This record gives sequence, C-alpha cells and structure tokens, in this order.
Amino acid sequence: MLQHRPHTTVVLAMSADGKIADFKRSPARFGSRVDKAHLEKQIAAADAVLFGAGTLRAYGTTLTVSDPTLVELRAQEGKLPQPVHIVTTHSANLNPEINFFKQPVRRWLLTTTAGSLSWKERLETFHSTLGTRAQECPLEFEQILVFETPTREIDIPAALKHLANIHITRLVVLGGGELVASLVQLDLIDELWLTVCPLILGGNTAPTPVEGKGFLPDLAPKLQLLEVHTVEQEVFLHYRLQRPAD
Ligand SMILES: NC(=O)c1ccc[n+]([C@@H]2O[C@H](COP(=O)([O-])OP(=O)(O)OC[C@H]3O[C@@H](n4cnc5c(N)ncnc54)[C@H](OP(=O)(O)O)[C@@H]3O)[C@@H](O)[C@H]2O)c1
Repeated sequence: MLQHRPHTTVVLAMSADGKIADFKRSPARFGSRVDKAHLEKQIAAADAVLFGAGTLRAYGTTLTVSDPTLVELRAQEGKLPQPVHIVTTHSANLNPEINFFKQPVRRWLLTTTAGSLSWKERLETFHSTLGTRAQECPLEFEQILVFETPTREIDIPAALKHLANIHITRLVVLGGGELVASLVQLDLIDELWLTVCPLILGGNTAPTPVEGKGFLPDLAPKLQLLEVHTVEQEVFLHYRLQRPAD
C-alpha cells in the first residue's frame, strides 16, 4: 500500500440490489434528503473530492457544501468554504458548457498528457484574452494535473502522492464505479460509506459501487464494519478496508 497519500473515503448511495444508477446511467437522485446531508457532511470534511468523468457527464454538476454550519466549521479550521473538486479522465472529453464550470468551486483536472492539451490551450486563450482581468474570473480548471504511466494511463498512486505533498490529507471519492474500481484495485481506499436506499434498479448494465474486472473471493478486499445507522428507510453502512497487518 502507498504510504504517503491522503486518507481516502468513498461515499456512495445504492439501491437495495446494489446499483449506483439505473440502466440508463442517469444521475443518481434516489437518495433521501438525509442521504444528501450525509454526503454533504463527508464532502465538508474533505480537503478535496475526486470523481470520474462518467459521474460528471451524468450529473453535469458537483455537490457543493451549502449548509452554513458546515461552511462555518470549515472556516474555523482555516479551510476555504469548498474543497477542491478533481475530475479524473483519460480523454478529458468534457463539455465546457455544463453547469459544473459555473459552480463556485476550485476545479482541478487529473488527466493524461493527451487529455491535458485542449484544456491547457483553453487556459492560455483565457489568459491572453483577459490579460490581468483573468485573475478576477473563475477558471474552468485552476490546475491541470498530469501523472502518466508508461502505458499512458493516469498514474493514480503518483497523483495521490502529489496531493499529499500539497497538504491534501482527506480525499473523498464520489464515484463512479469505474474510478472506485481502479482505486480498490490499487489498494488506495481506506473507508467506504454506502447508503442502501429502498428501491430496486436492476439491469445488467446499471453500474455498481465497484466496476472493473472484479475479484475472486480469496483475493477480494475485506471490509470491517465500523458502524451502521438506520434513518427511516435507508441504511448507512460505514466500512474500513482491512489491511494484512490488521
Ligand atoms: N449513487 C451514487 O452515489 C453515485 C455516485 C457517483 C456516480 N453515480 C452514477 O455512476 C454512473 C457513472 O459511473 P461510471 O462507473 O460509469 O463512471 P466514473 O467512474 O464516474 O467515470 C468513468 C470515467 O472516468 C474516467 N476514469 C475512471 N477511472 C479512471 C482512472 N483510473 N483513470 C483515468 N480515468 C478514469 C474515465 O473517463 P474518460 O472516459 O473521459 O477517460 C472513465 O470513462 C452515473 O450513472 C452516475 O449517476 C452514482
């Protein structure tokens, strides 16, 4: 396991049959207000949140901290009102017109060299068009992070090491299943919050919390249940990933 990296917590809502979205991969809005508040609380505790491009394409926005108590708590800890929102994508094929780019958050892009090109170009055009006024305008991506393996995939361990080096100590992973699968495969997840919601979504193309190739039981990452809360019809499960030394 990579030692020097942020503490990572995955937070997901799923149907009772283990789907994080319907078969059309629509935005997952089936959680209750209590679940949304739970998610917001986790986000408020983070220095940065990380999500896959599929999640951003589905929602077109990201969840910001809006509860004044949580914003105040962050201020007391010397933190800015919102954590950094980091999108992970190989292609960086994102629509610049989506509302995400109008939200009052700092946006970072984690991508490959190829993925970074068009966004770097946009950033340069932005600066050359606005000159010194550019400092007053929100940037599409404040930072473009490129960490690449020799096979031109994103080097996630190197990216997390970099985040730790710049004092991002708590990272909340907001999905989707593909990004979570990469992180689980690399043993880079510490905790998992799963909200089991009272509906059945079914379908063999509907995404689940962990996609990818999957694990055989002998090699499957093992979990320790830390806590369970039931609020009305939803069950909030909090797990820790077990490590060989446990
Ligand atoms: N229920 C919930 O709590 C919840 C939360 C989040 C999302 N969702 C749902 O989940 C669905 C999206 O999940 P998903 O599994 O399809 O998508 P995802 O993991 O959000 O995104 C997949 C995309 O992200 C990029 N990506 C993921 N892992 C990467 C890695 N290791 N390195 C580089 N890029 C990586 C790739 O983008 P490129 O193709 O651009 O290279 C990939 O195609 C949506 O339907 C959404 O509604 C539900």
